[in-house]
Amino acid sequence: MNTNILDEKKTIITQVKKVDAMHPDMSIIREAAEIICEGGLVGFPTETVYGLGADALLPEGAKRIYAAKGRPSDNPLIVHIADFEALDKITADIPPQAKALADAFWPGPLTMIFRKSDAVPYETTGGLDTVAVRMPSHPTALALIRESCGYIAAPSANTSGRPSPTLAEHVYEDLKGKIPMILDGGAVGIGIESTIIDLSEEIPMILRPGYITKDMLSEVIGEVRDDPGFTSADPNVHPKAPGMKYRHYAPKANLTIVSGEADAVVQRINELTREHHQKGEKVGIICTDETRARYFGDVIESTGSRQNEDSIAQHLYAILRDFDERDVDVIFSESFATPRIGHAIMNRLLKAAGHQVIEV
Ligand code: TXA
Ligand code: MG
Repeated sequence: MNTNILDEKKTIITQVKKVDAMHPDMSIIREAAEIICEGGLVGFPTETVYGLGADALLPEGAKRIYAAKGRPSDNPLIVHIADFEALDKITADIPPQAKALADAFWPGPLTMIFRKSDAVPYETTGGLDTVAVRMPSHPTALALIRESCGYIAAPSANTSGRPSPTLAEHVYEDLKGKIPMILDGGAVGIGIESTIIDLSEEIPMILRPGYITKDMLSEVIGEVRDDPGFTSADPNVHPKAPGMKYRHYAPKANLTIVSGEADAVVQRINELTREHHQKGEKVGIICTDETRARYFGDVIESTGSRQNEDSIAQHLYAILRDFDERDVDVIFSESFATPRIGHAIMNRLLKAAGHQVIEV
């Protein structure tokens, strides 16, 4: 065994292996699986964001994840499986609602919280007696889980506090020299992390909004509510998912959301741009294709068309990352409260902005 891959104190060479996302080369998948089964880390694509994988049932795997990401070890990891039957080994019980949700949304961008069995080490669950589980739909992710030991713990493959990676290049940017391998399957499909639902509450509770919306969940299991902890700007209201309390995704420049009717938003952002230009500052703007030509900021990034909310989710994190490379002092963003996944998009954007919103 190559001990270098397991010694996080040594700088290691990070190999980036291109794979055909839909039909990955199995010899590359087996190489990656070998690293995971030995307790090492591999960056890999899922349909939501890139994950940083380790064997979920080995305590040292989880420890390496926390070290590589610089993540607090009380922030539990999601265990990724490839078959529904794999739940038996890692959970204490499977409520009937979980079966119904799995039938509807697995494989896919939904994470469910279960009571854990003894097979799951506390290192993986951040000391909790519950375990978060997801069955991703990405063929590369599924192949890797099957070739590894069947249970891959994977947080998003970013350095803690940075936007989640939607391209292999983002994983390389954050984790080069810290992990031995990244599987590059190109751009992810969705671009924001999975919806997390906790079924242990009397009324099932969404701990993190995502591509699978409250309405979609309610259609299958009846009433569902949002955890008040993630919707609140009040730091004294604690979210139930430990990771939701951290100020994620924040770009280096100060970010403010300007919310309201489109024309008024454009006008206000242009006024603010003028004010900051007078102070000699550079202004970044996050907007949509429909409004792009109406701004005169220094760096103007469009998330895509308002007609296509999937495209907004797909591009948001890459844009937030890009701004860290650009020399801007302040960023103003339009609001993206679009009908379906707007709730999840705004949850991420509000965090990035530290809840600074100007209503016009
Ligand atoms: O889409 C996704 O879910 C991606 C891909 C890679 O699958 N993964 C991901 O993992 O977003 P991560 O670690 O970045 O976010 C996991 C979230 C954190 O907020 C964590 O606190 C919460 O899930 N979580 C994990 N286990 C939990 C548990 N037992 N109870 C409550 N929250 C939990
Ligand atoms: Mg994350």
